[in-house]
Amino acid sequence: MGRKFAAITGVAGYVPEDVITNFDLEKMVETNDEWIVSRTGIKQRHILKDPTKATSDMCVEAAKDLLKKTNISAEEVDMIIVATVTGDYVFPDTANLVATKLGATNAFGFDINAACSGFIFSLVTASKFIETGTYKKIIVCGSDKMSSILNYEDRATCILFGDGAGAVMLEPSDSSGIIDAVLKGDGTGCEFLHMKAGGSLNPATVETVQNREHYVYQEGRVVFKSAVKGMRDTVNEVMERNSLTNEDIDWIIPHQANKRIILSVADQLDFSHEKVLMNIEKYGNTTAGTIPLVLNDFEHKFKKGDKIIITAFGGGFTWGSVLIEWMY
Ligand code: UT7
Repeated sequence: MGRKFAAITGVAGYVPEDVITNFDLEKMVETNDEWIVSRTGIKQRHILKDPTKATSDMCVEAAKDLLKKTNISAEEVDMIIVATVTGDYVFPDTANLVATKLGATNAFGFDINAACSGFIFSLVTASKFIETGTYKKIIVCGSDKMSSILNYEDRATCILFGDGAGAVMLEPSDSSGIIDAVLKGDGTGCEFLHMKAGGSLNPATVETVQNREHYVYQEGRVVFKSAVKGMRDTVNEVMERNSLTNEDIDWIIPHQANKRIILSVADQLDFSHEKVLMNIEKYGNTTAGTIPLVLNDFEHKFKKGDKIIITAFGGGFTWGSVLIEWMY
């Protein structure tokens, strides 16, 4: 018996209608379009303004489209994983809500919180359920409503993030799919990127709200350097482990946090920029949503057999790289 692979058999994405451009942000904080574009590559980000909608709703939009594209009914889905740091509630998990809203009555699910690495951690977790033959159809969503945890008076963070969701279908294959992954974590990174209150360490109080501690806190320069190193090293490791050279790799799909981070990784690995896919200018950093949104935007370029490395770095710190052979 040969190895069973978990293959991505479809992708879909969803971003809410409302957009905040850099020019809109100029009216909100002391910043300007030139600074944001030259330092990050971001021109606009989509924001979920409807106060009755949350992360689960964006996942459902992406998942509905995914079911349509893959011609799979909601009842056929065995399992749903949602990667997010902005679940609808602290509990219950968002995946459970997504399953019910989608009509996936035979699916169970759970959330994975690994910040910007959440999608790749979830993809690899899901792949194990397929490789072992336990399940046949798994939806992996990456989604964040970052606008719900952003301080729109803090120019260092509010310019970076947006809202959005992406979803992929994983199914068994005898020939290709997710080939290998290198996943890493280091809790000493917590101090540089976290939300100060709202967890069990600092539960919400009047003071935590007054002190604006329910928002993203980031020391950007430290995160920047660690992100370049983390993504570079794990791309190298996964290539070396599989005896691959740059010529063997068709596409690099990095987490979309900063265009300068992405291009530094590409340059340090000596990859031509044409192989490195980016849509950060349109969406900003949607945290767990970035990678499936890139997969969705560039799906038309992929050919069966293409070798793709997806790589991410985020809060935790968490990071890693996944080697995929495209299936369709
Ligand atoms: O996805 C999760 C992982 N997150 C990341 O990977 C983000 C990593 N970090 C970054 O992308 C970058 O560090 C930032 C985009 C956040 C910041 O860029 P930077 O080149 O590291 O800028 P900096 O923080 O060193 O700030 C440079 C200057 C400072 O002014 P002084 O001290 O030189 O006078 C900042 O106060 O730019 C100023 N600045 C701004 N100016 C205009 C910071 N934010 C802004 C702003 N508009 N929005």
